[in-house]
Amino acid sequence: MKSSEYIKIIKSAKNALEEYENWGEDEIYMKKISSASSLDNSFAAGSLPVSQDAELESLKKQTAACRKCSLGAHRLNCVFGEGSSNADIMFVGEGPGFDEDHKGRPFIGRAGQLLTKIIEAMGYSRESLYIANIVKCHPMKDSSDPEKRANDRPPSPEEMDSCRSYLDRQIEIIRPKIIITLGASSTKGLLKNEESISVIRGSIRQYKDVKLMPTYHPAALLRNPNLKKYVWDDMKKVMSFLKTGTI
Ligand code: URA
Repeated sequence: MKSSEYIKIIKSAKNALEEYENWGEDEIYMKKISSASSLDNSFAAGSLPVSQDAELESLKKQTAACRKCSLGAHRLNCVFGEGSSNADIMFVGEGPGFDEDHKGRPFIGRAGQLLTKIIEAMGYSRESLYIANIVKCHPMKDSSDPEKRANDRPPSPEEMDSCRSYLDRQIEIIRPKIIITLGASSTKGLLKNEESISVIRGSIRQYKDVKLMPTYHPAALLRNPNLKKYVWDDMKKVMSFLKTGTI
């Protein structure tokens, strides 16, 4: 092997170990490779073997055409979600922000970069999981100008309710083993809970027939890095649940 290739490997190992240190973690989590085949799942779901990818693609088109609430009329792009149609874990955020609206992809801004680090520290890649939001269109304070910065707002309960059928269908198609809600909005949108995120986080709940772990939104960690340890505790519970099948 060329020495430049060795240097590349050592550099990426060094970065990974530094990241573990950031999370106060000592154990190395290996990348999980999903062995379940999408075909097995699609046979189980119905009489015709329509692939999960094809179902998600068709749902993505329906979602892009949606005007059930006013968000659809003002956003630049519908941010449907992305990742593996066979994912064990589905992250659900609040809603697209400026960067996501411009690119049509979830969690690609600063909060998204932190989410990617969390995912990698858990031993996964973004592509092996599924990342979505409780609403698929950018909720803006001033909806007349999608080019304006610092114009994001949380979605209203009505907006979350109008969009929920799309997320529900994504969950039915992907059938994740666990949903991780990021922040108060998506947690409340799904669980309709009264408790604050600081109280409900870290306790495994149920959404329909899927386990659900509420945790802080990565944007909250950017504002207050002291919250990182709580998110990491929550992610360790998720990893243990996926490994043992028990809570
Ligand atoms: N925050 C979210 O909740 N979702 C995104 O996609 C980006 C930022």
